[in-house]
Amino acid sequence: MIEKNCWQSYMPTRVIYANGAVNVLGGEVLKIGKSVLLVTGRTSMRKLGITERVCTILEKAGVKVNVYEKIESNPRLETVEEGGFYARDLNVDVIIGLGGGSAMDSAKGISAVATTGKKIEEVMQEPNLPILKPIVAIPTTSGTGSEVTHISVFTDVKKMRKSALRSTNTFPQIALVDPELTYPLSPYFTAVTGMDALTHAIEAILIHDFNPVVDAWAEKAILLASKYLVSATTIGDAESRAGMAQASVLAGMAISQVGTGLAHGIGMSLGGVFDIDHGAAVGFLLPKVLEFNSPIREQKSRLIANLISEGANFSSGYSADEAVKQLFNTLPIQRGLNSLGIKEDQLEMVVGDALTQGATKNNPRMVSREDIWSVLKCSL
Ligand SMILES: [Fe+2]
Repeated sequence: MIEKNCWQSYMPTRVIYANGAVNVLGGEVLKIGKSVLLVTGRTSMRKLGITERVCTILEKAGVKVNVYEKIESNPRLETVEEGGFYARDLNVDVIIGLGGGSAMDSAKGISAVATTGKKIEEVMQEPNLPILKPIVAIPTTSGTGSEVTHISVFTDVKKMRKSALRSTNTFPQIALVDPELTYPLSPYFTAVTGMDALTHAIEAILIHDFNPVVDAWAEKAILLASKYLVSATTIGDAESRAGMAQASVLAGMAISQVGTGLAHGIGMSLGGVFDIDHGAAVGFLLPKVLEFNSPIREQKSRLIANLISEGANFSSGYSADEAVKQLFNTLPIQRGLNSLGIKEDQLEMVVGDALTQGATKNNPRMVSREDIWSVLKCSL
């Protein structure tokens, strides 16, 4: 930001939201190209019949479809690079990411490699990427927000490190948000992806000094996630799924403007070392991170506590970290980093890496090595 009380926003993604929105995919893609690479995970979309359904919708519209279904839950640099050169060889017009954050993130990296012909590590260091092959994002989880952000995160397995690709040209051109696609999601993945969405909205509000657009998106996302996360996980009814799909989009829009903070800085490092679910990692860290940030963000912390209490119908009087804990305690999943198989004596490597992460540097309160240790120990 140039000076206090100035703000800016940029949201180039066209969101098409509806139950059954995936059915308009063929017509929408045909407006921007005649051939696609459909990027998705290794098993679940195929098993659920979603890959076949999407291929049929595209082919009926006259779009030529190629499928790249090799994406890991924490996508690796080499997998994204291979997909990028595959798309380049095929000379496809459009890249579609179908799945959770991993598939949509990968579609962005694949488009960057396919367009430029550069290796993924070169692409990630490129400060000004050109206009890329159009990206269409179709989320099947409600959490990552990748459908409306320019951010993608990839794992360097050799360095055991996650790093992010960000460019104004990696925003999806279209996000097709169809809550019905999230219906098959298990209670565990509904819970942890929803925790990610809530963490995005909360970190976005805490990070910036003044941005009413971010506030509007993030506040609504907190209300929706607080109201619907538990019922989406336990009942999975249409109203809850719809509420969480919208929370994910709004929270994604918010972080696309201002980035994330310490929960994501440490969560990225944990994910690089342990190959764990991103939403679980950031969600388990969030209460302690809120407590850490509250002395310099008192008013915003109170706002967050009030929004969660209103959405979840809690009695007032909770602090922000207590309200988050209370909400997560009602989810039918194990809690804490221990539940992900992480032990205290394995954390040294995480601490050093977390200090260097962009999200840690973006945190509103300056973070020391000791602070990261403290957050991690209290989140076990
Ligand atoms: Fe996240």
